[in-house]
Amino acid sequence: NLPKQVIIKEVGPRDGLQNEKEEIKTEDKIEWINQLSETGLSYIEMTSFVHPKWIPQLKDALEVSKSVNRKEGITYAALCPNMKGLERALEADVDEVSIFMSASESHNKKNINKSIDETYPVLKEVVDGAKQAGKSVRGYVSTVFGCPYDGHVDKQQVIDVCKNLFDMGIDELSLGDTIGVANPKQVSQFLDLIEGEFSKDQIALHFHDTRGMALANTLVSIEKGYYIFDGSLGGLGGCPYAKGASGNVATDDLVHMLHEMGIDTGLNMDRLLDAGMYIQDKINKPLPSKQMNICSRE
Ligand code: HMG
Ligand code: MG
Repeated sequence: NLPKQVIIKEVGPRDGLQNEKEEIKTEDKIEWINQLSETGLSYIEMTSFVHPKWIPQLKDALEVSKSVNRKEGITYAALCPNMKGLERALEADVDEVSIFMSASESHNKKNINKSIDETYPVLKEVVDGAKQAGKSVRGYVSTVFGCPYDGHVDKQQVIDVCKNLFDMGIDELSLGDTIGVANPKQVSQFLDLIEGEFSKDQIALHFHDTRGMALANTLVSIEKGYYIFDGSLGGLGGCPYAKGASGNVATDDLVHMLHEMGIDTGLNMDRLLDAGMYIQDKINKPLPSKQMNICSRE
């Protein structure tokens, strides 16, 4: 009972780049996003409007998001933690605003410097402001399957955070396995637990591949009827506030698996790999995905 089509949302320019220590030139980021726009993607998270002290790599968020050639049919999004971020995101006229918080107290505190309860009013203001400006809003919940500091995360706590974000009026929610600790059985059991709570049209899954489980976790999610997944081209990335966390599931490996299974993604593998080669050259080290590895050897 597999779907005919799966939607892949590319978060590489944000989640992928945010952890890169060596500064990537603004013009190179813009060129990379322009190349990604030619791969068949319908969604690209370009950057994030956070504090440059926290994420120095994305301090050029305004310039990047203003300069990208926006292609019709593609949603260009950016992360916003608060009103200060939203102001800049609206100045850049992004299509969609993404808010984010964690299901575990310690990760939330480390990541956005607030308790979970302190975070809600800040995010609510962002959602209201974005909606008033006519923007759609995506929410992220981090540490859904485990926290680098607290370890186990209570499932009811995760569900409460998800519900609170939907109550604010977000359009879609992305469930994050921030440090790649989930296994397919755990994902399957969690998805059974939330069956019927939220619409599958509004839930995305955001698997980091720290322990090589991301494709397996994606597959069980597909079997449960989910069809929106976040990926980062080449597997670029990691969370700066989650030690040892590596990048998201590689968009190219995901595309390979899905296409081999006869599931359409709308993505062109050759163009993806060309864009992968481009950013691999800019970060000056091999990207971890299997497809990029094959491509680099040829
Ligand atoms: P704070 O220090 O608590 O902020 O940081 P504050 O409100 O107390 O303000 C302190 C200073 O920061 C002030 O400046 C503000 O103006 C400034 P000063 O008066 O001292 O000169 N400031 C800002 N500057 C630029 N942009 C802003 C902004 N806000 C305040 N938006 C804050 C709170 C949220 C800003 C900070 O903690 C932060 O930037 N955190 C970002 C962390 C981050 O980006 N993490 C990675 C993304 S999330 C992720 O990767 C997970 C995800 O992929 C899903 C998953 O995998 O689970 C989404
Ligand atoms: Mg992430």
